[in-house]
Amino acid sequence: MKYGYFDDQKREYVITRPDTPLPWINYLGCQAYFGIISNTAGGYSFYRDARLRRLTRYRYNNVPFDLGGRYIYLRDNDSNQFWSPSWQPTRHKLEKYECRHGLGYSIIGSEYKGIEARTRYFVPLDENLEVWQLTITNHRKQVVALSIFSAIEFCLWDAQDDSTNFQRNFSIGEVEIEDEVIYHKTEYRERRDHFAYFACSAKTAGFDTQRDTFLGYGGWTNPEVVGRGESANSVAQGWAPMASQHVKLNINAGESQQIVFILGYHENSKDQKFDPPESQTVNKKTAKPVIAKYRDHGNADIAFENLRQYWDSVLNICQVNTPDIHTNRMVNIWNAYQCMATFNMSRSASFYESGIGRGLGFRDSNQDLLGFVHMVPSRARERILDLAATQLPTGGAYHQYQPLTKRGNNDVGGNFNDDPHWLIIGVAAYLKETGDWSILEEAVPYDNAPGSEQPLYEHLQRSFKYTLDRLGPHGLPLIGRADWNDCLNLNCFSDTPGQSFQTTTNKEGKVAESVFIAGLFCLAGRELAEITRRRACLDPGPKMQSPCASAEKLANGYLAEVAKMEETIRKHGWDGEWFLRAYDDFGGKVGSKECEEGKIFIETQGFCTLAGVGLENGMAAKALGSTRKHLATEHGIVLQQPAYSKYYLHLGEISSYPPGYKENAGIFCHNNPWVMIGEARMGNGDGAFDYYSRINPSAREEISDLHRCEPYVYAQMIAGRDAPTHGEAKNSWLTGTAAWNYYAITQWILGIRTSYDGLQIAPVMPKSWRGFKASRKFRGVTYNIEAERAGAGNKVALTVDGALMQDNIVPPPSDGRKQVMVRAILS
Ligand code: GLC
Ligand code: GLC
Repeated sequence: MKYGYFDDQKREYVITRPDTPLPWINYLGCQAYFGIISNTAGGYSFYRDARLRRLTRYRYNNVPFDLGGRYIYLRDNDSNQFWSPSWQPTRHKLEKYECRHGLGYSIIGSEYKGIEARTRYFVPLDENLEVWQLTITNHRKQVVALSIFSAIEFCLWDAQDDSTNFQRNFSIGEVEIEDEVIYHKTEYRERRDHFAYFACSAKTAGFDTQRDTFLGYGGWTNPEVVGRGESANSVAQGWAPMASQHVKLNINAGESQQIVFILGYHENSKDQKFDPPESQTVNKKTAKPVIAKYRDHGNADIAFENLRQYWDSVLNICQVNTPDIHTNRMVNIWNAYQCMATFNMSRSASFYESGIGRGLGFRDSNQDLLGFVHMVPSRARERILDLAATQLPTGGAYHQYQPLTKRGNNDVGGNFNDDPHWLIIGVAAYLKETGDWSILEEAVPYDNAPGSEQPLYEHLQRSFKYTLDRLGPHGLPLIGRADWNDCLNLNCFSDTPGQSFQTTTNKEGKVAESVFIAGLFCLAGRELAEITRRRACLDPGPKMQSPCASAEKLANGYLAEVAKMEETIRKHGWDGEWFLRAYDDFGGKVGSKECEEGKIFIETQGFCTLAGVGLENGMAAKALGSTRKHLATEHGIVLQQPAYSKYYLHLGEISSYPPGYKENAGIFCHNNPWVMIGEARMGNGDGAFDYYSRINPSAREEISDLHRCEPYVYAQMIAGRDAPTHGEAKNSWLTGTAAWNYYAITQWILGIRTSYDGLQIAPVMPKSWRGFKASRKFRGVTYNIEAERAGAGNKVALTVDGALMQDNIVPPPSDGRKQVMVRAILS
């Protein structure tokens, strides 16, 4: 069953009924000002950091689920009836309803008793504000007298404090009202130099800024002011400041009218905070022109058009035309779009991530680059340098940092021993995309400490060395707190309810080892060796810091470590039919046929084969076969089998989940593409694409009543076969699944792969495909690609502008051509 449909032409998903199984959300803003919006206008906004600079309030896990948002009430002043055109919060049965989630905007429209209302919500590029453009059309036979009430609730900036520190917060809320604009200035009198504003293009009949005056006992579904049809002009004195404006309109039969609402964030410099300077009145000099600009409908329309063009240009960097509509839709529109959101938010703010718990993850953000780097390379560059600046002198990393301050913190623990390697993976992806070797010479501090700066390249070396300094009894990497799987906590031994698995450790950590990190080490080590060699020797290259010969020696040293680790995996990381997962604190095997439960895990099967471990000696093929046999389900590949049926003290959080959910044998979508890439590396296009399709959200649209999450973006998890709700997705939007699937389908299945020397064309596509077309902008050149199947294999014969190539790497032309035509014949 479906709740809407894809409008591929407009690059929109159209939701046709408001009561979706879960709120189906979208993101507004892609730079510094962000909003989350559901299909019924729920959600909230923030500036840069959902924890530290939150503009509006939202109550997570509400009843009904999604309450609190960007609300508009319409009131028919003849009948005194009122309703919400976005369905929430009044939930009147609307005659027509439609929500169009587009790229950086959402349009929610409906009709009720002949009154049509459509609101287009978006954040203009390069602005710290959001625009709501409301168009009301009177389809009745006679003139209608309407009242429009807008309503948002301000957050007192720090979202954590806002939801806990009521003894203070109920006394500090402050607003100003000037020229019909509502300014929210809580704490502006002291250390804040920012404020929010809410404005409207129409003449207002009144306003409210004290939430409880506006709502009374009616709550959001039945606000007293709206029922009465008249604002109270309340001025917040502490308690809960809000912004509501009342506009009265008479609309003739058949006529449409427009109102623009603006919610914005503004900063003043410390010495310009007040106007007049000795007063306590907010200086609005620089805010007013911005407000004036967007109060104008024409300017709002132009800003919207610019946003559309921006997204077209970002998406047009990579467009494909394959025989599969779900692939096309995801690659060309939604998966790329989701990669922008995961780049911006990491795992911090969605309807399932409160914006309080997690900033930008070190591991997560580096992986997010895989799906983002081609879209806005300059922002990827900045992110890499920010991440590296939170690295510790040991080579280890803070697990997360706060986007506003860019400082690492230990709130979600530290010593995740896989973390440092992801920096190498992220930097390698950046170099392959851009060829910008200068990034390696950027001076970057450790732990943001002034004076500790070293070239980025040195950070990568320390990342690698971090593992060499932490090898366990078998010569495999010690796992530390956990590796990629946050919930495999082998040193935790937590027996106290409520204790955080992320911050509690009861063991020294000198025994438990991770085969996953071993695989990651091999991948990262090979990248580092290649980077080392090229950095020193490539022409045109960076500063010649070390001569080629010594770089060669260094690189060979890295490769020797990788070879040694591969040998260790063969000896101690192989279980006969698949890769082991780990060794626990007693030196016992995790993920082995000898285990009672959790005999086989996906992570090592996926990551080792992706990293090329065991490709030659048959281990990879066996591991992938075992994966298919033991872990694959129709809804994706589960994390391990058999699921843990009880809590194991020595395994930690993984066994705390009921079987089939999350890391305990859920389909943790993030790691499915590793297996796809492994299959592609083995030359099995059918296998890779089969897995791709099982979790492709568009391909699951038909089962939306089971899947429940949005059909246009990946969710973190789909319940595994041990769960009573097998096939049900959870935690949509913010997941490494976005970047990894984008990377798997574009670079490994379609085989349009970035490399140091150029764009490599190496498709491993399904046998039934006759071919596909693609266009990919790469280092300033547009590659028009046509792949055609002439035989069943993956052997590629390439011509570039008619000339036959020796291999399958196409460097950007040296003669300045901006377009190349690449034909790939597969046989
Ligand atoms: C979450 C975390 C990610 C981790 C994964 C598996 O998605 O954000 O860092 O790797 O869970 O535990
Ligand atoms: C994993 C889970 C994530 C959780 C974290 C800490 O990453 O997937 O949801 O927040 O572990 O427990």
